[in-house]
Amino acid sequence: MGPAANHGAPSGQVDQAFWQGRRVLITGHTGFKGAWLSLWLQLLGAEVTGVGATPPTTPSLYELARVGEQMHCVTCDVRDFEGLWRALRDASPEVVIHMAAQPLVRRSYAAPRETYETNVMGTVNVLEAVRRLGSVRAVVVVSSDKCYENLGADAAGFSEDSRLGGHDPYSSSKACTELVAEAYRRSFFEDPDGVRLASARAGNVIGGGDWAEDRLVPDLIGAAIEGRTVLVRNPGYVRPWQHVLNPLSGYLLLAQELCRSADYAGAWNFGPPAQEEVSVATIVQRVAELWPGGVEWEAGDGPGVPEAATLRLDSSKAEHRLGWRPPLSLDDALGATVAWFASVRDGGDARAVTVAQIHPLVRPRRSQLLPVQDSP
Ligand SMILES: NC(=O)c1ccc[n+]([C@@H]2O[C@H](COP(=O)([O-])OP(=O)(O)OC[C@H]3O[C@@H](n4cnc5c(N)ncnc54)[C@H](O)[C@@H]3O)[C@@H](O)[C@H]2O)c1
Repeated sequence: MGPAANHGAPSGQVDQAFWQGRRVLITGHTGFKGAWLSLWLQLLGAEVTGVGATPPTTPSLYELARVGEQMHCVTCDVRDFEGLWRALRDASPEVVIHMAAQPLVRRSYAAPRETYETNVMGTVNVLEAVRRLGSVRAVVVVSSDKCYENLGADAAGFSEDSRLGGHDPYSSSKACTELVAEAYRRSFFEDPDGVRLASARAGNVIGGGDWAEDRLVPDLIGAAIEGRTVLVRNPGYVRPWQHVLNPLSGYLLLAQELCRSADYAGAWNFGPPAQEEVSVATIVQRVAELWPGGVEWEAGDGPGVPEAATLRLDSSKAEHRLGWRPPLSLDDALGATVAWFASVRDGGDARAVTVAQIHPLVRPRRSQLLPVQDSP
């Protein structure tokens, strides 16, 4: 196991010295968040192994940005315990960030068993492999803001002590993920010198390279590129929107601090400040202003599938105890997302564009990450 981070109170910064050379295993590296996190860890100089199924969309950020070129990638279903165990044993990671999941609410109605098997038993399998392995110091289980029982317009927002719940299978599966994580923490990972386990609950993320179905910003930009009018469901719904780099910075900070101290075990929210929790309609209007040529849209006829109308997250625990601050404001997030899709549409290299957006958050070894012709 490598040296723990050498600092007193958390700096609130992702520490390159900590990550340099560190063995990190990510599940779900072929997904949207996984691809961004894999590139960020590569920039930090970590030794990264990704475990996951094939990319969930075509196109995918994973393929376009050639994410797998500078990491070890294992194709494995998290429902396959033996395969997962072999991947962990071979990688012998010090840090595990578990993100593989079926992440879509609408799909969870169509495929509830797959959703529970992947999200719940997949988490059990990852934690069981970690328990068996012995080399892991810190595990971050990525859950969702949807793990909370929604009580309508709760102005104060969900704190980590709020009740878990979820009416739809996806939200419920994430509440179950949290319960699994808590049970493993209490039953097997209580020893402060052993595995330290935290869970991270983040809101709706936006960013370049997301092509998932039923996500607002990809739908808007896809329609704009194709010259279609987009039908916007639930324009009044409020969500904690944030750039993908914001929760990822929280996951990295959390793993760093877990390696330093067992005091950071437990559940953590990573969401935007209250003034950036805005409605679907606000996001649509801002994207329409930013996208070259605008976006044609109209409001749809009410909810397609039942979902909570309001989700607000209270991230004060992460702010006070980890020193975490969301690195990008909502305006930055929307600007960066539109710029990403516009650059790639116009022939920009997706890896170079993505790395350039991560770059301000890290001092990367760029020469090792970008082919010469892609350097700006
Ligand atoms: N995107 C968001 O707005 C958002 C919000 C809150 C939480 N999350 C959570 O963040 C995580 C990543 O989400 P994302 O948006 O990157 O999703 P994504 O669909 O882009 O990626 C999911 C990843 O999980 C992998 N995967 C799916 N089923 C698998 C299986 N059975 N075995 C192995 N791998 C499997 C996919 O191959 C992919 O690598 C998920 O846990 C999701 O629930 C996402």
